[in-house]
Amino acid sequence: MRAVLEQLEFRRAQARIGGGQKRVDAQHAKGKLTARERLLVLLDEGSFEEYDMYVTHRATDFGMAEQKVAGDGVVTGWGTINGRLVYVFSQDFTVLGGSLSETHAQKICKIMDMAVRNGAPVIGLNDSGGARIQEGVASLAGYADVFKRNVDASGVIPQISVIMGPCAGGAVYSPAMTDFIFMVRDSSYMFVTGPDVVKTVTNEIVTAEELGGAATHTQKSSVADGAFENDIEALEEVRRLFDFLPLNNREKPPVRPFYDDPERIELRLDTLVPESANKPYDMKELITAIADEGDFFELQAAFARNIITGYLRIEGRTVGVVANQPMVLAGCLDIDSSRKAARFVRFCDAFDIPILTLVDVPGFLPGIGQEYGGVIKHGAKLLFAYSQATVPMVTLITRKAYGGAYDVMASKHIGADINYAWPTAQIAVMGAKGAAEILYRSELGDPARLAAHTKEYEQRFANPFIAAERGFIDEVIMPHSSRKRIARAFAALRGKNVETRWKKHDTIPL
Ligand code: HXC
Repeated sequence: MRAVLEQLEFRRAQARIGGGQKRVDAQHAKGKLTARERLLVLLDEGSFEEYDMYVTHRATDFGMAEQKVAGDGVVTGWGTINGRLVYVFSQDFTVLGGSLSETHAQKICKIMDMAVRNGAPVIGLNDSGGARIQEGVASLAGYADVFKRNVDASGVIPQISVIMGPCAGGAVYSPAMTDFIFMVRDSSYMFVTGPDVVKTVTNEIVTAEELGGAATHTQKSSVADGAFENDIEALEEVRRLFDFLPLNNREKPPVRPFYDDPERIELRLDTLVPESANKPYDMKELITAIADEGDFFELQAAFARNIITGYLRIEGRTVGVVANQPMVLAGCLDIDSSRKAARFVRFCDAFDIPILTLVDVPGFLPGIGQEYGGVIKHGAKLLFAYSQATVPMVTLITRKAYGGAYDVMASKHIGADINYAWPTAQIAVMGAKGAAEILYRSELGDPARLAAHTKEYEQRFANPFIAAERGFIDEVIMPHSSRKRIARAFAALRGKNVETRWKKHDTIPL
């Protein structure tokens, strides 16, 4: 018996060595943790249950019969994060560069299938040279098996990808179909075709970091939702995000203990909106004032900064926030901000996360670039996402809600349940000056008369009461009581139940 136990220990130890100490040292020298070390940081202590540790590839070409490593370059299994179940895979760069073989893919598919069956999220830690070159089409088939599962699991369980090394070629499409992508600065990159191919085809000279590093994907392409300094920070932030999310689409997000009075009064909010309508202020002040303990997890913070998206808790319950940011482009909607917010709203709706919308929007950004870029279609994504959402929705207009953007930003008309406005709100077709210039075009040469018309329009429409008289705004609230009013609103909506018409699926303007 002892011999058998020893043999088991020996086989386990061999699998844990991965590609050997030399390659582990090389991994550390790059500032990266190994696949197993990463799981130790990500999961609760002692919770990791590994599967398929002894799996090896079956390839024989190119001398592969002699290059078998137990586990085949990916560590898979399940564990817990603050006690809640999660399935994980972590690619091991020390084994053939973490490249994906047929069996490596089968291991990932196995835990994805378990995750869907048992209703728990999947977190994938990606660090791979891509398709295992020696295996050819078997490897490509393996990728496609994973892609199909990503799509089947979409909207059923949350899927999170962390890019912690190379992720190139078609391999990028698995993370791309998950719900969140995070990257590690200076040690990860993602691109469909690398710098060498780019140079050959387009004659552009670019480094891997410039082409697909964390800065590129968090600021320019919006492929990634966030970037972190190192492996440890990235994994700890993923744990923080995980705590906001439900395990699957049939469960509510977790309720955390909270030590912050839901009725907390915030007098500073009474002076948050400046006297001048054209002066910016920081919408994040309102967000953190509303949140339990001021805790806010922001997504896509460096992209389309004219809109803010992320999670907070009210009375311990997760709420998704979408907020115009007057500090950037006056908080207007444009192509990028519409896409960013639309994607966020759809995730919240799929996973039963209530949505709070904070509005200060002067309209859609004008310009040739916007029109040629398809702002019509991209703006429609946000309108569509809100109109389709059935989760509890509370909207608060702090200042401007002009034109079509008023309708789009979770107005009552497209399905918000409770719509509040501060006394400083201005709900109108457009700003007073623009309106006067159109209505009194013939008087454009007379600045005094135009100013009088502007004032008249302002007095009539630059307030929340016209909308409130029609019931489009349920109540005009004191800024200092915003947290209390919003908390009560969401509490009253906990039993919301909406029947939707059967359809195969919608045809959202993609
Ligand atoms: C097999 C691979 C591999 C791969 C790396 N290795 N990539 N083995 N298949 N795809 C092996 C190397 O031979 C090496 O083995 C070890 O991993 C570490 O690689 P290095 O090159 O020494 O590391 P580094 O200098 O850090 O460079 C990493 C790298 C580079 C940039 C990822 O290895 C590279 O360019 N690899 C090829 C990438 C690629 O073209 N992949 C196919 C993409 S197409 P030893 O034994 O020396 O340690 C694709 C299609 C997917 O993925 C399609 C899905 C639809």
